[in-house]
Amino acid sequence: MKRILTGITPSGYPHLGNYIGAIKPSLDLLDEKCESFLFIADLHAVIKVSNPEKLKELSNGIAMAWLASGLDPEETNFYRQSDIPEITELAWLLSCITEKGLLNRAHAYKAAMDINNESGKKDVDEGISVGLFSYPLLMASDILTPNATHVPVGKDQQQHLEITRDIAEKFNRKYGNFFNVPEAVIKEQKTVLGTDGRKMSKSYNNIIPLLAEEKELRKSVMKIVTNSQEPGEKKDWKENTLFSIYSSFASKEQIEDMKQMFNDGVGWGDAKQMVFEDLNSLFTPIREKYLELNSNQKYIEDVLRSGADKVRKETLPLIKEVKRLVGINNL
Ligand code: TRP
Repeated sequence: MKRILTGITPSGYPHLGNYIGAIKPSLDLLDEKCESFLFIADLHAVIKVSNPEKLKELSNGIAMAWLASGLDPEETNFYRQSDIPEITELAWLLSCITEKGLLNRAHAYKAAMDINNESGKKDVDEGISVGLFSYPLLMASDILTPNATHVPVGKDQQQHLEITRDIAEKFNRKYGNFFNVPEAVIKEQKTVLGTDGRKMSKSYNNIIPLLAEEKELRKSVMKIVTNSQEPGEKKDWKENTLFSIYSSFASKEQIEDMKQMFNDGVGWGDAKQMVFEDLNSLFTPIREKYLELNSNQKYIEDVLRSGADKVRKETLPLIKEVKRLVGINNL
């Protein structure tokens, strides 16, 4: 049986880009014929989020965003990475068979070194934590601990999946066929743009929030960059940020209508109003569910706890067997 697994790192407030790129695809992929593991990668977030209160809030935010978007905790294994100690335990064992060179090539580490190089730092490793360096190793462990077969991720994570496959194969060669060699399921999707026309990302401060109140949602849509064309002037929808954002979530018919409006010279204010209204219809049921969840924190904690209990029924025997294979067992 297929075992689908994916995680989201709680390093920012959930936004349209997360919803379209990660939350929705993770739920669309699930059906009765597969087992699924969906988790909050809070241990990964420690690399980036240094404020403890904030980390807690962000982890909770991802849990609520996932649940509010329709995740059914009865149908899937939904858990917090940090509640599964077998993940960090396996990460160490995997680190012992992984060549450092494999991680030297990982793009997050290379990007951090590039920044140091560009700013003329003498030591290219300055300020780079071992956590950031070994990030792909922890991710491999996330995937291998429940022995997943399929991992839906964005294109930016493809390299991490290749590293995971390398590590799994290496382990299998060394200790006997044990791990599934997981496949990446990469959905070709367009990058969701932010309000300034760059990729939507909390670090650019250009997000459209998923869980915000209507007023705030409207404000962020009104912030989307346009140009100085007047109402009545025909507008080009190609290479247009507002149109691109709209087409990331709207239906085919809605997109065709918007194209027509651009051709007919819609004013930017009216076009934005339409984007806001359609986005608001999409987000309203999610927001309502979120508000309900937000006033019932105990429920969320219970869901995550029982998710972890279920998952550990798989991961405890697995780690025991891995240790036996490696030669760590009772005398
Ligand atoms: N690194 C992923 C991201 O930033 C999140 C993640 C952590 C993940 N562990 C994973 C995704 C395991 C898939 C499988 O998007």
